[in-house]
Amino acid sequence: MQTNRYNPYTYIHKGIRRELTDLLRIAANLDFADGSAAEPFVARLAQSVQLMHKHAEHEDHVIDPLMQQFAPKLARRVLATHKVLEGHEEEVLSLCDEAVGSPAVGYSLYLALSRYAATQFAHMSEEETDVVQAIWQNMDDAEIIAAENAIVSQIEPQNLAIYLTWMIHGVNEEERTTFINALKKGAPPEAVAFAEEQARAAREAQLSLA
Ligand SMILES: [Fe+2]
Repeated sequence: MQTNRYNPYTYIHKGIRRELTDLLRIAANLDFADGSAAEPFVARLAQSVQLMHKHAEHEDHVIDPLMQQFAPKLARRVLATHKVLEGHEEEVLSLCDEAVGSPAVGYSLYLALSRYAATQFAHMSEEETDVVQAIWQNMDDAEIIAAENAIVSQIEPQNLAIYLTWMIHGVNEEERTTFINALKKGAPPEAVAFAEEQARAAREAQLSLA
């Protein structure tokens, strides 16, 4: 597999994987009977699932019309999986409110989240192999970056800050440096400062695990 081209999925998908694995781990440990702990968790979970849904919508709006031209079968498969993910997301969201104070619903929510994560993990891996190969064969890096910029320009600033936090914490140090250097070329100084602050926090968190 070719790997020396720009892969527009790597950062955001590493970020999504990190958030999903964090959510699963926390849900597994959580006492849902304890409302003061369960409430902030389900608020984070609901927000994160909604942002993951928006991520798939961004792909549908920008990447799908391009892929329909050069890989229509694969494009249909991606759209279909996004629909399956939407069903999982609705299931997770419908359990969120009732899970606070209820260990039984909390366990159902944990299982629904695990099914959603399983489908997401398999789907994102397909995008980072088969889909990105089709993109590389049919688009040059400038076209890929233009598509990525079209997606970023659609994201509300408060959501962008959350995606950015997921990504900076989810990638390795080399990717973090590349990402921040790219931001320095075009992003507002406050966005760069925010990313650098997140990078510091991510490094510290990694050190404490070492
Ligand atoms: Fe996707």
